[in-house]
This record gives sequence, C-alpha cells and structure tokens, in this order.
Amino acid sequence: MRLPDTNDGGPCADRKAVSPPCPTVAGSAAEIRVFFDLTTDNGEEWLAAASALLDGDEIARAKRLRFDADRRHFIAGRALVRRALSRFIDVDPADWRFVANRFGVPQVSAPAEGRRLRFSASRTAGLVMVAVTTAREIGADVERLGVYPSEVAPHFFSADEAEAIRRAPQADRSMLFFRLWTLKEAYAKARGIGLSIPLPGLSFRQFGETARLTIDPSLEDDSGNWTFRLFQPGPRYVAALCVDVGRRPPVTVEMERLPVCRETPPHSCGP
Ligand SMILES: CC(C)(COP(=O)(O)OP(=O)(O)OC[C@H]1O[C@@H](n2cnc3c(N)ncnc32)[C@H](O)[C@@H]1OP(=O)(O)O)[C@@H](O)C(=O)NCCC(=O)NCCS
Repeated sequence: MRLPDTNDGGPCADRKAVSPPCPTVAGSAAEIRVFFDLTTDNGEEWLAAASALLDGDEIARAKRLRFDADRRHFIAGRALVRRALSRFIDVDPADWRFVANRFGVPQVSAPAEGRRLRFSASRTAGLVMVAVTTAREIGADVERLGVYPSEVAPHFFSADEAEAIRRAPQADRSMLFFRLWTLKEAYAKARGIGLSIPLPGLSFRQFGETARLTIDPSLEDDSGNWTFRLFQPGPRYVAALCVDVGRRPPVTVEMERLPVCRETPPHSCGP
C-alpha cells in the first residue's frame, strides 16, 4: 500500500506541503482508491463551497443534525464522496444522485454509468474518508486515535480480542483497540448490515497491514470471502478496509488526499 505523507492541520492551510502527486484514477492499476481530507479549522467559505456540491436531500439531512460539528462532518463527507466518484467518471460532483437501501447503505442511482461504482464512506473527528472500487462489496472505517473506552471491550470484542488488548503493553493498547474496532466496522459496512450484528462473533488477529478474521457460525458467513487492509491516513488516525475477494486476485489499494473544498490550488487534482 502506498501511503502519503500527511499531518492533521487544516486542509486548505497545508495542502501544498502534504498533497501527494495527482495520479489519474483511470490510469491507476489499483483496484481500490481511498480518498481522504482533513477537516479541522475550516471556515464558513469552505463549508459553503462543500455544501454547494450537495443535493436537496443531503442539505435537508445536514440541517436536521443538532450539533454543528456533526453537520460540518456530514457535509464534508458527502462532498468528498462526490468529488471522489468524479475521479472515476467524468461527471460534475454536484450531479451525482444516491439512493439508500433498507439498511441505509448509499449507492449511486444516477448517472447510470456510475452504478457500477461501489463506495464506503466514513468520518471521524477532523477527517473524512471514502473508499471507491468497482463491482466489489467494500466497507471502510476510520477512527481518531485517543483514549479508548476500555469498558466496552467485553461487549464488542471476542474473548481472544479482549485478551489481546489486555495483554498488550500499555503504550500499544489504544492502537490495538482502534485497529480491531475499525476492522469490525469495516466488515459490518461491507456486509451492509451495520453494527446491529453481534460484534463479539467476529474475531480478528491483525498482522501489520492485514488481518485474519474468524467468524462465529451463527453469522453465516465465510471469512475467506473477505480481505482486510489496515492503514493510517494521518498520524492520529487508524483506518480499515474490508473487501469482497470472491475468486478474484489480491486487492491493491492506493490512497490520495483529495480536498473537499472547491477552491483548489493549482497543483491539486480536484475535478
Ligand atoms: C453504518 C454504521 C456502522 C456507521 O457507523 P458510524 O461510525 O456512525 O459512521 P461512519 O462515519 O463510519 O459511516 C457513515 C457512513 O456509512 C454508510 N452507511 C450507512 N449505513 C450503512 C450500512 N448499513 N452499511 C454500510 N454502510 C452504511 C453511509 O455512507 C454513511 O455516511 P452518511 O452518514 O453520509 O450516509 C452505523 O451507523 C450502523 O450500524 N448503522 C445501521 C443501523 C444500525 O444497525 N443501528 C444500530 C446501531 S447499534
């Protein structure tokens, strides 16, 4: 996996320093493209530019959000999804239309040529991310590293996972907790059923950038259907991808920082 240099300053302030070169998606051999942007310290102009990409349903949903931080993240996340999809198909970011299935998973409804794209979006304090691919099921999750709620471990982790967290050196526990958590959420999102699945029935062992999953038989799934990737879109963040492999060859992943805001500097690659 190719990881860009990054930090977590504001997206407009430091983009010049941290943006990787701008490969065109069409020319990329990677099957999965992960786009992200940092959202801290952005002003009203930035928010207005991002909002201008959203459709009426999205604006209405943003207005219903009670907390300003949630509203800003929702707007930034949806704007990023639109800009990311427009890297694959030559469509104005504002022209994408979506439908959500009965579990809430959004999919492209128009334009029709975009329906083959699969994406999974995630947001956390200060960062929005979306993973895009074609014709494979995909789930993505990102979390900001921090103090983890140790009391949730027995409810959400398998006995082996809880034991691994307990045994880890103090300095490594937070990272391990969030790695396991993002893996579970990425899997739940790839299956489209969300966090209503019994999470202790998923047991991950993580090895560097990958992980191995054991699934409780009650969840009626074969872990061989899925492959996982772990990465850090910034030093304070951890993210996971879960991808349907089926009988297809190993999955390649590339990451790119894609500015959410419209006023893109000359070197950047916004559509
Ligand atoms: C999907 C879910 C895991 C998202 O978790 P989260 O940490 O709050 O949010 P993230 O930022 O990582 O992801 C949000 C995105 O996931 C996607 N999403 C929503 N529901 C989804 C689902 N069932 N499966 C896959 N992806 C889903 C959407 O793109 C959403 O972005 P949006 O809010 O702009 O529409 C969680 O909301 C969930 O489980 N929802 C299903 C309902 C449910 O089971 N509720 C019980 C909760 S205990």
